[in-house]
Amino acid sequence: MSTFKALLVEKTDAGFSRSVVDRHIDDLPEGDVLIDVKFSSLNYKDGLSATGNPGVSRNFPHTPGIDAAGRVLESASAEFEVGDEVIAIGFDLGMNTAGGFGQRIRIPAGWIVARPDGLTLEQSMILGTAGFTAALCVHKLEATGMTPQSGPVLVTGATGGVGSVAVMLLAKLGYPVTAVTGKASQHDFLKSIGATDILSREDARAGSDRPIGRETWGGVVDTVGGEILFNGVKALKYGCSLAACGLVDSQEIPANVLPFILRNVNLLGVDSVQLPLAQKREIWKKLASEWLLPELQSLQVELTLDSVSTAIDRILAGEMVGRGVLRHDD
Ligand SMILES: NC(=O)c1ccc[n+]([C@@H]2O[C@H](COP(=O)([O-])OP(=O)(O)OC[C@H]3O[C@@H](n4cnc5c(N)ncnc54)[C@H](OP(=O)(O)O)[C@@H]3O)[C@@H](O)[C@H]2O)c1
Repeated sequence: MSTFKALLVEKTDAGFSRSVVDRHIDDLPEGDVLIDVKFSSLNYKDGLSATGNPGVSRNFPHTPGIDAAGRVLESASAEFEVGDEVIAIGFDLGMNTAGGFGQRIRIPAGWIVARPDGLTLEQSMILGTAGFTAALCVHKLEATGMTPQSGPVLVTGATGGVGSVAVMLLAKLGYPVTAVTGKASQHDFLKSIGATDILSREDARAGSDRPIGRETWGGVVDTVGGEILFNGVKALKYGCSLAACGLVDSQEIPANVLPFILRNVNLLGVDSVQLPLAQKREIWKKLASEWLLPELQSLQVELTLDSVSTAIDRILAGEMVGRGVLRHDD
C-alpha cells in the first residue's frame, strides 16, 4: 500500500498543531530502505520535535519519532532484504527526517541495524533510544572501572525512560541503585524495578552551594543536568564517574574543578544519536543477550497513533513513567 497513517506536526500562526493524517510514500524522503514500521516509542526528544524546538526539528510539516522497528518493504542496499526485521534509532530519524510516528519510513541503510536474535521488535521499542542510552551509560561507566563493589549508583530522573531502564539494568547486574525522583507516588514502582534506595529531587539538589560533597556514589547515570548533575559529581567516590546524557532540568552545569583535582573523578559524555553503527550494533547485541531484561514489559505504556499526542504533552511535563511504546495498526 502506498498510503499510510502518520502523526503530522504542522506550523501554524498559533504555534504547532498535531493530527493523524493519511500520507503517501512519495511524501517520504529519498533513502535506501523503505520500512513498514510496526513499533515506535516516545522519547523526550520527540516532545521537543513536536513542539518545534529548533535544536531538534526545523522543517515542518513533520512526523516525529526518533525510534522505529519494523520490516523492510523495499531495499536498494545489499545489506537488507525485503522482509528483514530491523531497528533504527537516532541519526536524523524523527528530527528532520520523517520518523517512527508514521507507518512507513524511508532512510539510509547506514542508520539501520538488523534486529538481534533474542530481542523482539516490540522489546526493542520498549527499550528504544531511552533504554539504549541507559545501556550506553552503564557500558561507559563499566569501561571506566565501575563494578557492583564500587558503591551505590545514583540514577536521576528515575521514573523516566532512560532512568527506569538504567535502574532495571543496574539492578540486574547486581548494583545497589539509589533512584532520584520527583514523584512521591512512584516509590513502590521504583523498588519493584530494582531501586534499593530513593532520594527526592529536593534532597538531590541540597548542598549545591558547597564546592564538594561526601564521597557516596560508585557511579551516576544523570538524565537531568543542572545542580543535580554536579551534586552527583561532587559526591562520587575517589576515581569514579558520572555519565551525563540528559537535560530535562537544565543544560547548564554549576561546576568547579575540586572534585576532578581532589577525587580524580570523571564526567563522561553520552550520545546515542551519532554513535557509529558498529558500536550501536554491539550495544543492541548486549541488550539481546547478557543484558536482556526479562521484566522489560513492566515498563511498557501502550500507545497508538491516536493517543501519542496526549503522551507527548505528558512527557514534556515530566509526568511519564516508564516507556511509551507506539504500536502501529497493520
Ligand atoms: N544523550 C543521548 O543520546 C540521549 C538519549 C536519550 C535521552 N536523552 C535525554 O535524556 C533525558 C531523559 O530522556 P527520557 O526520554 O528518559 O525523558 P523522560 O521519560 O521524560 O524522563 C525524564 C525524567 O526526569 C525527571 N524530571 C523531569 N523534569 C525534571 C526536573 N525539572 N528536574 C529534575 N528531574 C526532572 C522525571 O522523573 P522523576 O519524576 O522520576 O524525577 C522525568 O520522568 C532528556 O533530556 C533526553 O533528551 C539523551
